[in-house]
Amino acid sequence: MCINTVNMLSGLLIALLLFFDCTLGKRVPCAFTDEKCLTESCDRSFKKFINGKSGAQSSDPMHLDSMTFDLPEIKYVVKNNFFVGMSNCHVVLTRISLEGSTFVYNISCPSLTMKMDYDMKGQLGSKNIDEKGNCEVNFDDYLLRFVGDYSQYNGVDNKIHLQAKSYKFTPDNKARVHYECKKQSSGDKLKSNKWRDTHQQAAKNLLQSFMAKYMRNVNRFLEKTSNEDLFYQEL
Ligand SMILES: *[C@@H]1O[C@H](CO)[C@@H](O)[C@H](O)[C@H]1NC(C)=O
Repeated sequence: MCINTVNMLSGLLIALLLFFDCTLGKRVPCAFTDEKCLTESCDRSFKKFINGKSGAQSSDPMHLDSMTFDLPEIKYVVKNNFFVGMSNCHVVLTRISLEGSTFVYNISCPSLTMKMDYDMKGQLGSKNIDEKGNCEVNFDDYLLRFVGDYSQYNGVDNKIHLQAKSYKFTPDNKARVHYECKKQSSGDKLKSNKWRDTHQQAAKNLLQSFMAKYMRNVNRFLEKTSNEDLFYQEL
């Protein structure tokens, strides 16, 4: 009686295991026209990708080496550039259009921070300027938007991979962005509008550079991850 119950139970267990093994974790590939499936797929793998656990470089934090922006009448050098917060974002849209080979890729971010040291030299209105300092830029509820062209190729794993060939990043002009720049040696405290505009322009350029780095990371991730391993629904 007791033995029978054990046999019955283990038989049931095996049946259950077989059942779940066949149904759970079954991957159904997304149709490229299925925007919801594509978006959910990208969001599912997003955290692993951002944290650099999928073979691509980590995107949080991101770092960029020193670079120079030639602004009108000002040479603006940024150093020790950091971009933090991508791991809390979510992919809210991935759209692929087969005709035209274009994509749309939007990411919603609750809080992003960009930091840099600056060194600016040149002319600010009628004033000669030569100053160093640092800036912190905070982006709240910010939507990162990319549109571009993609291509597909057969990878070393003999599977089809996607690649962003070109793209345009559009800043979110509705989001709240807070700029805070400080001079290293605080001489005159007066900060003109021109002074503020210069820093904001430089920060916009730097954001574009960070987004270029981000898209290079995306392409590295896509190199490691084939379409069938990325775009699927789990049943
Ligand atoms: C995605 O970005 C595009 C602009 O590139 C915008 O028109 C669209 O409303 C955005 N959609 C979502 C869901 O964020």
